[in-house]
Amino acid sequence: MIYSCEKCMKTFSQKSHYDKHLTRKRTCEIQSDKIKELVDKTVEIKINELKKKLNIVEEKIDQQNQSMSIHNFIEVCAGGGGLSCGLIKAGFTPLLLNDNNNDCCKTLKKNHPEANVICGSMDKIDYSSYINKVDLLTGGVPCQSFSQAGLRKGLSDPRGDLMYKFIKILYLIKPKMFMIENVKGLLTHDKGNTIKTIIKALHNCECKNVIKCDCESKSEYNIVYKCIDASKHDVPQKRERVFIVGTIKTTKKQFEYPIELSSKKVLKHVLYNVPQSNGAKYNETKIKLFKMIPQGGCWINLPENLQREYLGNSYNSGGGRRGILHRLSMEKPSLTLLCTPSQKQTERCHPLEERPLTIREYARIQTFDDSYEFLGSIASQYKQIGNAVPVELARQMGIALLKTLEV
Ligand SMILES: C[S@@+](CC[C@H](N)C(=O)[O-])C[C@H]1O[C@@H](n2cnc3c(N)ncnc32)[C@H](O)[C@@H]1O
Repeated sequence: MIYSCEKCMKTFSQKSHYDKHLTRKRTCEIQSDKIKELVDKTVEIKINELKKKLNIVEEKIDQQNQSMSIHNFIEVCAGGGGLSCGLIKAGFTPLLLNDNNNDCCKTLKKNHPEANVICGSMDKIDYSSYINKVDLLTGGVPCQSFSQAGLRKGLSDPRGDLMYKFIKILYLIKPKMFMIENVKGLLTHDKGNTIKTIIKALHNCECKNVIKCDCESKSEYNIVYKCIDASKHDVPQKRERVFIVGTIKTTKKQFEYPIELSSKKVLKHVLYNVPQSNGAKYNETKIKLFKMIPQGGCWINLPENLQREYLGNSYNSGGGRRGILHRLSMEKPSLTLLCTPSQKQTERCHPLEERPLTIREYARIQTFDDSYEFLGSIASQYKQIGNAVPVELARQMGIALLKTLEV
């Protein structure tokens, strides 16, 4: 038989020893208290060790971030932040983010609380503290008027075109690089004269001879431009945008656009487990029509009488017009997302259901993280997402820019 002390758990094989133990003057310590004390002490030591390790890891991450984030950027006309998000993911640090739309600014502040967000027109900002301190000046500057009159008056054009405002900021702060994002139509506008005018202005060229001038050789920047299709850069959306990139001539490396990828992302890669969110709705008529349209199809898939009824006078106007009553396909990238999810001429119906894409589906296709929040009305949120540079494309552009900036 084994005798065991209830207090200290000590065991005895002989009863006499056990009895003696119970009657000893110094009572034995309660073992459970002792164990608890021991456990507490050990836990405390372990926590302190872990805290020390965590501090070391945090310091290392900070150091890594600092060395990766030594390149900064200013973005004007930043919208809801697609471009800035991608640039930050690539390793850039935002010095200043600007837009003149309140909802866009709220979205930028919410998602980048550390950034200096200035709401208002980009030409009303005091940039004096940024002169010669900026690595990248960027913006999705909307092009309003690029007439020949604008060209002749150059930067002193009293209409104050936004592109000219951007160029004024460029030559005030003299960043190492600049990047302007714009629609594909910029390249063909006014038979190609508009882009020539912009490039000339970006060279800060005052020469009056449009046909023959030495703007390029005199310019402080090497400037290139290219139309990039986001679907060739891991974005499940066909979206073509022009990127004009300038590199200050003292930079040793030449800018190279990101390499196109051979495999494409399609909607089935992103339209699963999408978080719940608000979304526009179709009326009963549209729901009935879409029930007849397969994935990847459009108005052409309707019976002829319904085609005529839906298109009205434009039935005979020719052209593919595949955006009308278009249902997206899970097996393909989306058509270009627009600022509104549902319009008569440009419909992008969900591949499997009779409804427009929700806010979060829009954001997924534009490659925003699910945690990125958009503020403002539903219409404003769609607009912010529809206007954005896809985050993943912006990230790839950011990496290409960083490669040029690295010494
Ligand atoms: C094409 S969106 C930019 C989208 C952005 N690049 C992105 O990736 O999300 C153009 C933005 O320019 C803004 N904008 C227009 N005029 C402006 C001005 N004078 N100053 C600042 N922002 C302006 C608009 O509010 C709009 O959000």
